[in-house]
Amino acid sequence: MNYDDFLELVKKRRSFRRFKSDPVPKEILEKVLEAARHSPSAGNSQPWEFVVVQDVATKKSITQSITSGYKKIRKADPTMYWAVAVQPHLSTAPVLIIVCGDRRLQETYPVHLPGEVLLRQSLAISIYTLQLAAASFGLATAWATMQTELREVQIRKLLGIPDVYTVDHIVPLGYPDEEKEKSDKALRPVRERASFRRELAEIVHYEHYDMGKFRSDEKIKEFIWSKTVTRIPRIK
Ligand SMILES: Cc1cc2nc3c(=O)[nH]c(=O)nc-3n(C[C@H](O)[C@H](O)[C@H](O)COP(=O)(O)O)c2cc1C
Repeated sequence: MNYDDFLELVKKRRSFRRFKSDPVPKEILEKVLEAARHSPSAGNSQPWEFVVVQDVATKKSITQSITSGYKKIRKADPTMYWAVAVQPHLSTAPVLIIVCGDRRLQETYPVHLPGEVLLRQSLAISIYTLQLAAASFGLATAWATMQTELREVQIRKLLGIPDVYTVDHIVPLGYPDEEKEKSDKALRPVRERASFRRELAEIVHYEHYDMGKFRSDEKIKEFIWSKTVTRIPRIK
């Protein structure tokens, strides 16, 4: 594979949150998971395990559990527009992949950083590999984060996942419904902001940190409120 093909794949992977009902063939699903299996991990600990959920009722329960949590968050903070707007997509995806991380494997690491950092970094890489592999088949994915311990507990119970695992990421997988994605008003602000990327010249420093590129606190605030997809003021 040359660089152009690789970059094309990287750009092809975008978050999609509206899915067609067409099932994902098992052989393709397994190829996507196979790619994730080859991801790098801290100390080669491979802490990931994937629970694949296709049962409609189970997907609904998972979605309800997550959205009810987000509704509470949004009630307390109306700027969390994004959270509620995008989570209901989970139940429409033909496949939900619940990414679990075995906390016991933290003992592998030569250093212990707070917050299970190396474990979570390893899981994140496996998710990204999975997303790239899915994109290579024209499949859509998104990344859904469970925000509270409560959600994690509920989902662990629902799926019978032992306590030793972290359960904080879910990847919906399916064929993208591009029409719905484009026409869904709830997704518009997210879609518009998500395609934005900072310029290379802004983010790369050669030899030492270039203070000319350092962003003030005000600039960071402005960036968060105008460019990121999480904080979007309530839209009537
Ligand atoms: C660590 C992480 C957590 C994320 N959590 C969520 C989430 O809970 N819900 C969601 O819809 N998207 C989530 N996303 C997707 C981002 O919003 C998305 O990647 C970003 O807006 C850029 O858009 P793109 O994926 O289309 O390039 C998450 C992405 C990452 C890397």
